[in-house]
Amino acid sequence: MNNLVGDISSAARALPSLDGEKIYIQKGKGAHVWDTNGKRYIDTALGFGTLIIGHAHEELTEAVIPALQASPTPAWPHLLEQQAAAALCAHTRNLSKAIFCTTGSEAVHLACRAAKAYTGKSTIAKIAAGYDGWFDDVTFGNAATQEALFTDQRPNKDAITLLRYNDFDDVEKLFSENSDIAAILVEPLLANAACIQPLPGYLEHLKQVAHKHGALVIADEVATGFRLHAGLSSHAQEFYPDIAAIGKSMGGGIAVSAVVSTPEIMEGFETGKVVRAGTFSGNPVACAAVIATMAILDKSDYPALLERGERLKKSIVQSFADNGLAVSTAGYGNLFGIWPAPLTSSTYSEAAKIFNAEFSMALHVELRRAGVLITPSSLGRLYLSFAHDDAVIADMEQAFALAAKAIAKTL
Ligand SMILES: Cc1ncc(COP(=O)(O)O)c(C=O)c1O
Repeated sequence: MNNLVGDISSAARALPSLDGEKIYIQKGKGAHVWDTNGKRYIDTALGFGTLIIGHAHEELTEAVIPALQASPTPAWPHLLEQQAAAALCAHTRNLSKAIFCTTGSEAVHLACRAAKAYTGKSTIAKIAAGYDGWFDDVTFGNAATQEALFTDQRPNKDAITLLRYNDFDDVEKLFSENSDIAAILVEPLLANAACIQPLPGYLEHLKQVAHKHGALVIADEVATGFRLHAGLSSHAQEFYPDIAAIGKSMGGGIAVSAVVSTPEIMEGFETGKVVRAGTFSGNPVACAAVIATMAILDKSDYPALLERGERLKKSIVQSFADNGLAVSTAGYGNLFGIWPAPLTSSTYSEAAKIFNAEFSMALHVELRRAGVLITPSSLGRLYLSFAHDDAVIADMEQAFALAAKAIAKTL
């Protein structure tokens, strides 16, 4: 009997068998992972996006081991926690106060609590088709649900209401219908809907309208944080949210997340009026990981990585075009989705018509044969790390050329 439910602990980890064989990953290094048969793959899931510094970065390992040896969770105050907050907040501008937690879902949860406590209001307006973690309330309106496609009647549930991404008018309409909104919760890039990008001025518009009505804006930077530069992707796009939830990349693959905001908004936590807790929140191993990751990212060449990614995106589109198939890409150079259509869209309702589960599964299968692992989900995305150097990108280009040829034959 297999004691592990469904063979995996997170549904997002599911992969199909290929030629009757299941795949289990044994180890990773840099841009690559090896399965239990010793086969090497280029990885584009990268710990669901956590590994922007690549698998098993030596500086991270060296920083984490002493913290582990000195006690993984002492419960009492320790200095690494303050140092990690200083290291993180050196990258988050006016959001100068941090609380650490362990997962992105927890960080989003705490960010919403901060907004409710500060504004005295109780509803969170979530972007329809956004993904903000797996806790009950914010899973409402996720991509692939009926609610995410709403038109007239705005869906509401458990103090969550939805609004349509990139729909400028829907923001005013939202506040005219509901005066109890504490915050708008938005991913600066709809990463979990194959990377739908914000229209120019949209994020700023959200903030202006929210502030006019006494609400805040929470940027869910769990996927996007530290992707465009060593900081929030919001800030790289000149968007200044009131609160940000960060996770994934900030720990280099170690489980750690954070809420960052201004001293005024965080005051309720500081004075103890607002509840925060967590056995593992701010543990020394996580803090050592944050400090080491910030140091690694500070010396990493973001423009070069983003340029390599843009080159790869163009080459993917070209490979499919060479085989008579139109695909397009959306997102950043190191975090992007592949769409089976000549153009991407800025709305989820249009995107939902384009997503094609069969295409995404075929792409997964053919790339896996060619030595590249990508998620089989049509809402999925590819991540690149700093270890995806020119040689790795060239290997990926070759694999995509083979996959495009194979897929074209089946259509
Ligand atoms: C944008 C976004 N928010 C929140 C989460 C939840 O993070 P975690 O899985 O660490 O709880 C994710 C995870 O993929 C995410 O992409």
